[in-house]
Amino acid sequence: KKIKLKVPATVANLVCGFDILGMAIHEPYDEMEFRLLETPEIIIKHTDNFGLPEEPSLNVAGIVLLKIKEHLHLKTGFEVIIHKNIKPGSGLGSSAASAAGAAVGANILLENILSKEELVHFAMFGEELASGVKHADNIAPCIYGGITLVKSSNPIDIIPLNSPDLFVTAVHPQVEVKTSDARQILKKNILLKDAIEQWGNIAGLVAGIQKNDFALIGRSLNDVIVEPVRSILIPKFDKIKEKSLKTEALGGGISGSGPSIFMLSEKEETAQNIAKLMKSIYDEIDIENFVYVSKIN
Ligand code: HSE
Repeated sequence: KKIKLKVPATVANLVCGFDILGMAIHEPYDEMEFRLLETPEIIIKHTDNFGLPEEPSLNVAGIVLLKIKEHLHLKTGFEVIIHKNIKPGSGLGSSAASAAGAAVGANILLENILSKEELVHFAMFGEELASGVKHADNIAPCIYGGITLVKSSNPIDIIPLNSPDLFVTAVHPQVEVKTSDARQILKKNILLKDAIEQWGNIAGLVAGIQKNDFALIGRSLNDVIVEPVRSILIPKFDKIKEKSLKTEALGGGISGSGPSIFMLSEKEETAQNIAKLMKSIYDEIDIENFVYVSKIN
């Protein structure tokens, strides 16, 4: 038995919802092919040249399959061929796609023996391998689709939200920002006044998403805690944000831990104009960049 999956990129945090909000988008996406093996081994193959490890215990998809196999006491194994289009280190949920894709693919071959919460549980081992932390804000939208709220990751409590009809523009400038480093630099303590502002933004954003209130979404896409620290790692962040907002973006910010930046817009034309703007800003300073115009998946 053989299956092929399309696994979407994801934008984690949605600016103010650090580690709790995320959305799946149409572009870019990975493709993963799965085959059940009669022998117990796990075989991982990549068709790209990103240099990711193929040894199962060191591979994000491999570790998820090892954990599922151990949990279910399986005598069979899996072969997985990964066609990766979501660039590793982009901040667009590349590791989450491999981890979530592995859990979903294995589950289909095993005739849906696992629940969605269990898929999230196993996929989080992949995130832990990739970044040292078991966060589910990329995994959850990758598995459930659309926008999700990770109300809690232990115990796993995922709330799928509404998917507003919005366009997403994302730019990936080719600079290195490791998730582990981007987490390390964050302050461990925050001021109550900042927390209150952030609670207002998160609640406003979730309300805006549920009510399709685009103006409310726009004015809630603010982050007083993480963005001021992390944006320093991303060249031209302030310029891109400022100019995108002038081009009628509703709002946006860092995608996950960066370096990608995303913007939401109501109209496709605005999303395309922002794409041109992002590209020209990075071209001007000779930073290789990849731009995607997409929708919430
Ligand atoms: N919520 C995580 C972070 C996402 O911002 O560190 C990492 O992809």
